[in-house]
Amino acid sequence: MITVFGSTNLDQIGTVSRLPKPGETVAGGTFSMAAGGKGANQALAARRAGASVRHVSGVGSDAFADLALALLKADGVDLSAMKVVDGATGIAMIFVDSHGENVIAILPGANGAMTSDDADKALAGVSGGVMLVQQEIPQAATERALDLARAQGITAILNTAPFLDSTAALAPKAAILIANETEFALLTGRGIAELDSAMADWASKHKQTVIVTLGGDGARAVTAQGQRISVAALPIKPVDTVGAGDTFCGYLAAGLDAGLDLEAAMRRAAVAASLACLKPGAQPAIPRAEEVEQAMR
Ligand code: RIB
Ligand code: NA
Repeated sequence: MITVFGSTNLDQIGTVSRLPKPGETVAGGTFSMAAGGKGANQALAARRAGASVRHVSGVGSDAFADLALALLKADGVDLSAMKVVDGATGIAMIFVDSHGENVIAILPGANGAMTSDDADKALAGVSGGVMLVQQEIPQAATERALDLARAQGITAILNTAPFLDSTAALAPKAAILIANETEFALLTGRGIAELDSAMADWASKHKQTVIVTLGGDGARAVTAQGQRISVAALPIKPVDTVGAGDTFCGYLAAGLDAGLDLEAAMRRAAVAASLACLKPGAQPAIPRAEEVEQAMR
């Protein structure tokens, strides 16, 4: 079983020909709303990969809450431990341009009310399995979840998105770290030219498996034992990359939970993440296991 402890957002998406610069107005384009939030996206990805998944998160008392949870509910993610906070559901304001490039501002709403007590409730009685956490809820809550996971024999995966000043302090507490190349460079202070050695140094120093996602170049890992893995992405032309990283994380967790070895789990996750770039929106674009298997043939 997979427990996701993290955020839920309703994404407000503007598709525009080009991204406005600060102070600039760009006219034209289309508007849509779609369920999002890194926690919720990862929960749905793990579910669509075939895992049984609990999503523990907060939504507001507003009309956006139901829309934010609709796809999770439809796909059978366990939402019984969700909390409802008086006020607004988390919102992400997203602009995507004609090249699939995006800018995002997050207004946390109920996500900001998640506490370490909520982590206690989320993991009470859970042992074994996998936990996924990200960084769109207060760090104290995430930190508590990581500590509990370690104590309770749960494999904790920390996705370092979005990167925060406190990420470096929290990161070593996870069993597996998933960062994109920018986040990993911020974490280690070492650039892409030194990626392989920076990953190896990190993994041995923290006795932790580190995975770095590289967009169109797939993903690499160095395990706690020093094994190196590299997997490819599909050659695609991205329409909208929002949610691709979350798809990778959810599929990776589901693969490990199902007993795949790390390389096989990463291979499937990288293909799933590529497919997620072919459709607009975060959750609506997350592929199902059958589609991923077909694309891998
Ligand atoms: O990772 C993608 C997600 O980031 C979006 O769904 C949006 O909610 C932002 O939080
Ligand atoms: Na997408």
